[in-house]
Amino acid sequence: MRKRIVEPMPNEKILVGVAWPYVNGEKHIGQIAGAYLPPDTFARYQRLIGNDVLMVSGSDTHGTPIMLKAEAEGITPEAVVEKYHGLFVQGCLDMGITFDLYTHTDTQNHWDVTQQMFLRHFETGYIYKDEQKQLFDPLAGRFLADRYVEGICPHCGAAGARGDQCDNCGRLYDALELINPRSKITGSTELEVRSTEHFFLDMAKMNGPLLEWIATDKDHWRPHVLNSTRGQLELRELRGRPITRDLDWGVTIPEALGAYPDKRIYVWYDAVIGYLSAAVEWAAIVGDADAWRAWWDADVNPAARIYNFIGKDNIVFHTIIWPGMLMGYNAGASHLNLPYDVPANEYLNLGAQKFSTSRGNVIGFNAILEDFQPDAVRYVLTSLAPETADVEFTWQDFMDRVNNELVANWGNLVNRVMGFAYKRFEGRVPDPGTLTPEDAAFLDEIKAGYATVGALYGAVKLKAALLETRRLSQRVNQYLNDHAPWKAIATDPQGAARAVYVALQAIDWLNLMWGPILPHSAEKVHAMLGYAGALFGTQYTQVVEDVRGSHLVLRYDGTSATGRWAAGTLPVGQPLREPSALFIKLDDAALAKWTGEEADAGEPG
Ligand code: MF3
Ligand code: ZN
Repeated sequence: MRKRIVEPMPNEKILVGVAWPYVNGEKHIGQIAGAYLPPDTFARYQRLIGNDVLMVSGSDTHGTPIMLKAEAEGITPEAVVEKYHGLFVQGCLDMGITFDLYTHTDTQNHWDVTQQMFLRHFETGYIYKDEQKQLFDPLAGRFLADRYVEGICPHCGAAGARGDQCDNCGRLYDALELINPRSKITGSTELEVRSTEHFFLDMAKMNGPLLEWIATDKDHWRPHVLNSTRGQLELRELRGRPITRDLDWGVTIPEALGAYPDKRIYVWYDAVIGYLSAAVEWAAIVGDADAWRAWWDADVNPAARIYNFIGKDNIVFHTIIWPGMLMGYNAGASHLNLPYDVPANEYLNLGAQKFSTSRGNVIGFNAILEDFQPDAVRYVLTSLAPETADVEFTWQDFMDRVNNELVANWGNLVNRVMGFAYKRFEGRVPDPGTLTPEDAAFLDEIKAGYATVGALYGAVKLKAALLETRRLSQRVNQYLNDHAPWKAIATDPQGAARAVYVALQAIDWLNLMWGPILPHSAEKVHAMLGYAGALFGTQYTQVVEDVRGSHLVLRYDGTSATGRWAAGTLPVGQPLREPSALFIKLDDAALAKWTGEEADAGEPG
């Protein structure tokens, strides 16, 4: 095993791999809080400290989740992909999720990289061919792959467990182990067991190496991720798992291995390869075909750190199957880096609350962004982050956090200081004269956030980073209450100027610390403080031509953010821009559409 470099160094290569969402419907905020927002917050911080971030993902377009949706909507799988891929891209644009590349898996590039890995696994002996017994629905005349069958989980007893995985306990098993299996196609429980030929990933070979890997340098992993991985590895020896299916939707089996027109590669085998194939596609788009190697090629840069941001139902695929696949690949002539960290989140559940019938009982990613500011949503989902345990979402709590924390702690602070400075100091950063030792000490206290908040972001403790930034913002509120420049200006204008300067300087620094969580308002505060140019840079979509059809990708240019994580000095006399409120305060009326409750029309009489 290669020695990994854990110490942060400037210009490290950080690959932020984000779970590839199935595009079988609008994503809901639980999924956003779990897998899509945290990587963006982390990536923004990494760019600010000057690291070289490659944040990639794409839509997971294959497998039975997409097929079932296509059948339900009476459209083709391609049409399902097109519709929901576009919807997710729009949500990411609105939320400010800064993918260097967000693509999807139905591209020639992804097919090529997947088939190359399949062939490599065959060469290294990690893939073999065998007969498999599978559930067959005679009424439908079809094998019941993955989500086409449901039953009771053989491990935890939960109902609704699928053919390949139980959502309740996250375990993997063979569909034949399901108790009382039932076909999702016909509803039939009269199922047969038939034999069919498949390719298998020889996970038995990975057992020892994975146990060793999981026992080495994993102190930085979240305990629940480490424990559930260990638990599954110790539960029983891994054995071969079929990685092809009797389906007609998915990546085809490499022709070099024979003609299998009615079989496709299992969706999870191809999806995890996306982290690699998207880096390869990104390199081609930026016109430097080998650029992906700085993150992935262990012979070029074994110190690159790969983070996989996922929800807990995906843990086993990222801590057992994907590392196992990489070990199998690395048994050949070239080598790829294994994940450095897999910061999986637990679930954000919707509390026992009423939902309006028009909205149903989910809160959609796109829908919530139609009604609320992206930074308000980002703030609440980060402050609720289910990093170590499941968390409940309620609308009352959403409103309280926006009003009593985001608005009261940060929004009002910025508004009152900027408003006062703009009006009473000729729209410029006032000259403080000489700072008192107390003022200097206070600024040092805020400045220390670059180290403390930074360490928390770097360790993927995003909720703790939020709390520490909020504590420091609260210190500025206290400072202002103590010095009350709006009163002092009448009797001690120099003292008032000093207090306003100190508060503006603190706001300037805190704005950077809030930036990874609140990028849209950070951009605004940055401009109001009179700085020229963007803080975080721009996101845009692009159409990429591909022999499998053109596809829409989401891209980001983050060069403006690079290396800004340092306490600069706010220039005295810098012209401010006219301030305006950062955040919208919420009331019952703003939530009525979601809670299904009429806003209070006021006391009668
Ligand atoms: N499509 C899966 C889901 O939505 C996640 C795939 S993550 C990847 O649960 F690693 F496979 F890409
Ligand atoms: Zn289970």
